[in-house]
Amino acid sequence: MNKKTILVTGGAGYIGSHACVELLQTGFNVVVVDNFSNSKPESLRRVHAITGLSPTLYQADIRDKQALSDLFANETIDAVIHFAGLKAVGESCQQPLTYYNNNVYGTLVLLEAMEAANVKQLIFSSSATVYGEATCQQYAEDLSLGAINPYGRSKQMIEDILRDVSAADKINHASFMRTNDLLPHRQLRKWKIVLLRYFNPIGAHESGMIGEDPNGIPNNLLPYILQVASGKLAQLSVWGDDYPTRDGTGIRDYIHVVDLVKGHIKALAALDGEQFATGNCKAYNLGAGMGYSVLDIINTFEKVTGRAINYKIAPRRAGDLAEYFANPALALAELNWHTEKNLDDMLIDAWRWQSNNPEGYE
Ligand code: NAD
Ligand code: WQD
Repeated sequence: MNKKTILVTGGAGYIGSHACVELLQTGFNVVVVDNFSNSKPESLRRVHAITGLSPTLYQADIRDKQALSDLFANETIDAVIHFAGLKAVGESCQQPLTYYNNNVYGTLVLLEAMEAANVKQLIFSSSATVYGEATCQQYAEDLSLGAINPYGRSKQMIEDILRDVSAADKINHASFMRTNDLLPHRQLRKWKIVLLRYFNPIGAHESGMIGEDPNGIPNNLLPYILQVASGKLAQLSVWGDDYPTRDGTGIRDYIHVVDLVKGHIKALAALDGEQFATGNCKAYNLGAGMGYSVLDIINTFEKVTGRAINYKIAPRRAGDLAEYFANPALALAELNWHTEKNLDDMLIDAWRWQSNNPEGYE
C-alpha cells in the first residue's frame, strides 16, 4: 500500500515539529507549509536529525492562494493537520485584526484550496480556550462554548466554520447524487474533520533536540520556569495564590507534547473508521484529565531537575481562571487515545531541551 501523505501547516512550530517526527516515524510522507513567522527552519533540520527523514518544505503563508494552489497541484495530499496560527492570548487582545486575519482568513484560504483539490480530511488545532468561563472545572466536549478573548474566539469561529462546511457537504452530496454530472471524472468526497481541543501542552521530545522556542519573554508558565532555571530570567511571578484551589494557585491540565501529537496520529486513523465513514466534524479534548497547580509545577520541577526556582507571589493575571482540566473520555472511547507520560516526564524532557539549547534554535 502507498504511504499516505500528510500536509502539516505550521509544521516548523513547537507542536508541528513534534508532529512531523511522529508522522515520519509512523510511516507517513510529510509536506510542511510554514512562513516561519514564529519558528525557524532549524527545527525541521532537527526533525531530520531525529528521524533520518525530511518533510518536503514549502516556505509560504497559508493566506497565499497561489502558493497553496501550487502545493496541492504538486503534491498528492491525503489529509491536512492544521497547526498554522498565532497563539498568544495577550497579543490577540492588542492586535485582534492580525489574529482574525491570520487564523480565520488563513483557514478559509486553506479550506478553499483543499476543496479545489478534493482533499477533505482535516485535523484542526483547537484549544480548551473555546470553553471560556464554563461553570464546571472538568470540561467535556458537549459544554457550550464561549471564548473570552480574540485568540479563543478565532479558534471558536474556525470550529463553527468547519462544522458548517461539514454540514453543507451533506446537502451538496445529496444534490450531487441527483445531478451526478458535476464532477464526472472523480469521486465527490465528504469532509472528515477532527477538532482537537488541546489543554496545556508542555515538555519536549526526549532527544532534547526539539522543543518550544518562544520569542522574547515567555508568557506561559513552563517556558518562563525554564528560563528562570537556566538563569536567563531572574524570578517567576506566580499570578495569584488566593484562588479557591487546594493551594491557592491556578490549576491546569498539562499534557506532554509527544502525547498530544500521538493524539493526532490516532485522529488520522479514526478518519478511516466508522465514525467518519459518511463524513463528519467532531471535537475531542486532548488532556490528561487531571490538574496541577502552579506550585505543583514548581515543586516537581525542583525535585526532578535539582534546580531551585526563584519565585514570588504576585497579583492575579487578568483573564485567568482558577481551575480547569479535561474530561478526555471521548478521545479514549473513539480515538483509542490517552496520555502515557506523567508530570515528571514532561518537566525532565522540557529541562533537557532547555539545557541543551539555552538560546533555543539560535
Ligand atoms: P507555534 O507558534 O510554535 O507554531 C505555529 C506555526 O505556524 C509556526 O511555525 C508559525 O511560523 C506558523 N504560522 C503561523 N501563521 C502562519 C501562516 N499564516 N502561514 C504559514 N505558517 C504560519 O505554535 P504551537 O504551540 O506549535 O501551536 C500550534 C497550534 O496549536 C496553533 O494553532 C495554536 O493556536 C494551537 N494551540 C496551541 C497551544 C499551546 O499551548 N501551544 C494550545 C492550544 C492550541
Ligand atoms: C498556566 C498557569 C497562570 C505564567 C494559555 C492559553 C491557552 C492555551 C495554553 C493556546 C496559570 C500561571 C503563568 C507565569 C504564572 N494556548 N502562570 N506565572 O493561561 O492556562 O493557557 O496557554 O491555545 O489558550 O490561554 O497557560 O502557561 O500561561 O498559565 O503563575 O509567569 O500558570 O496564572 O494559572 P494558560 P499559562
